[in-house]
Amino acid sequence: MSSNYTTIKSLSENTGKQVTLAGWLYNSRASGKIQFLIIRDGTGLCQCIVEKGNVPDEIFEQLKHIGQESSLTVTGTIRAEPRSVGGYEMAVTDAKIISVSEGYPITPKSHGIDFLLKNRHLHLRSHLQWCILKIRHTVIDAVRRFFNDNGFTLIDTPIITSIAGEEEQSLFEVDYFGTPLHLTQTGQLHLESAAMSCGKVYCFGPTFRAEKSKTRRHLTEFWMVEPEVAFIELPGLLELAENFVSSIVSRVLSDNRAELEALGANIEALEKITPPFYRLTYTDCVNILTSDKTKDFLVNQLQEFLEEKKQIETRITELESQDTGKLKQWQKDKNAAELIELRSTLAETEIKIENNPRHAQLAAAFKWGKDLGGSDETIISLMHDKPIFVTHYPKQAKAFYMKTDRENEDVVLNFDMLAPAGFGEIIGGSIREDDYDRLVSRINKQGLKPENYEWYLDLRKYGSVPHGGFGLGIERTVAWLTDQKHIRQCIPFPRMMDKVYI
Ligand code: 4AD
Repeated sequence: MSSNYTTIKSLSENTGKQVTLAGWLYNSRASGKIQFLIIRDGTGLCQCIVEKGNVPDEIFEQLKHIGQESSLTVTGTIRAEPRSVGGYEMAVTDAKIISVSEGYPITPKSHGIDFLLKNRHLHLRSHLQWCILKIRHTVIDAVRRFFNDNGFTLIDTPIITSIAGEEEQSLFEVDYFGTPLHLTQTGQLHLESAAMSCGKVYCFGPTFRAEKSKTRRHLTEFWMVEPEVAFIELPGLLELAENFVSSIVSRVLSDNRAELEALGANIEALEKITPPFYRLTYTDCVNILTSDKTKDFLVNQLQEFLEEKKQIETRITELESQDTGKLKQWQKDKNAAELIELRSTLAETEIKIENNPRHAQLAAAFKWGKDLGGSDETIISLMHDKPIFVTHYPKQAKAFYMKTDRENEDVVLNFDMLAPAGFGEIIGGSIREDDYDRLVSRINKQGLKPENYEWYLDLRKYGSVPHGGFGLGIERTVAWLTDQKHIRQCIPFPRMMDKVYI
């Protein structure tokens, strides 16, 4: 399907030509006989210059008064302008207003997060949100491409399920015609049965966890892609995971460099994400957490946070004590935006300062057998510049379906992948217990009912094979790549424990 309008994305092929763009007014400023309109059309931003005399007078006047997000078409000649947003500019000769917007609530000034989430339907139009939507799209496309190109078959697993795949406490109940069922926490169990049909399979869909945690890493509805492979052992699974994640990063780097730059992502760090990733066992991590090296590391980190706090406070005082009377409106807006941003960073830094001693204490007192907590993962992840596989967790800390290591019965053949530089877990996976009796015993030990898992146990009765897989959270991956503090920014309509806004 083609439209009569040229897209901003294709302006590089249109320099010197007269084209018409259709979009929305993102921002504008006027200076006497010249107006600078930033137009967005869904494919990018373009500065359009309207000079009095080059357009009909009534159009010049109309353009001067339309508000942010008014929809319009603009016609003019394109020229390359490296200093301009997107690298091209239009010298406007004509324009047509489609629909006037007045009092658009989200101005280029900064707003509080609560306000923005309440206005998520509009906030999605902002440039940074647009960048995240584009990157999320690329990540999902790269995910599908990787599996489709590597011989995996897509399997659609159910959303309404009768058994728990992960902790029972985080199940969302559904009243299914009088029978209590749940929203799926993972497609894994159903996917395992499909792996026994097609060998290499994957599912990709929304998953639900009624987790009572309000952290930056948790949503109650998130998207997970899960591959499952028959005849695979742990080393092969780790190799699959590192090739998979590297392919996503490299696609985003090649398709979305401009968006990554706009979001302030660390492109240099992302360029390092190539196999092999680091491999640590859980026991290695316990040794790291309880070491003097970690103690020193955390003391240094506290110093850095205190320094950061001082610098932010100095800048806030500087901005607050400025004589605003002399400032132009756009400068006032810019300063107000910076202040909101600084205050929010300050609040986060203060939380880090407050948490540091507790995290240091937790790390130093860490006892083998406990699951790694968010702060432990953050410490390990901060010490590395590439993703880290943490393998062989204690059996008691992990899900019933994970295969016990036959060489060390205390641990399971599993892994978490931690994204580097403090981000933390993006993947959880394992080799699955393929022995019928052992699986029944794990189900019993975890207080689950074996009769609910009959069909799952059948897979161990009829031609059981070593197999395994993993799940990658899309929002966490996008947040890591785009350097977002909270994963709620990485899904168009976030669902969180305390609030569903729209
Ligand atoms: O480690 P998890 O719980 O693993 C499973 O669900 C396995 N059944 C997957 C498998 O082996 N097929 O979750 C996998 C990933 C996490 O690493 C994280 O990226 C994401 O799913 N995730 C969440 N993302 C956002 N909000 C939450 N509440 C999440 N819980 C897990």
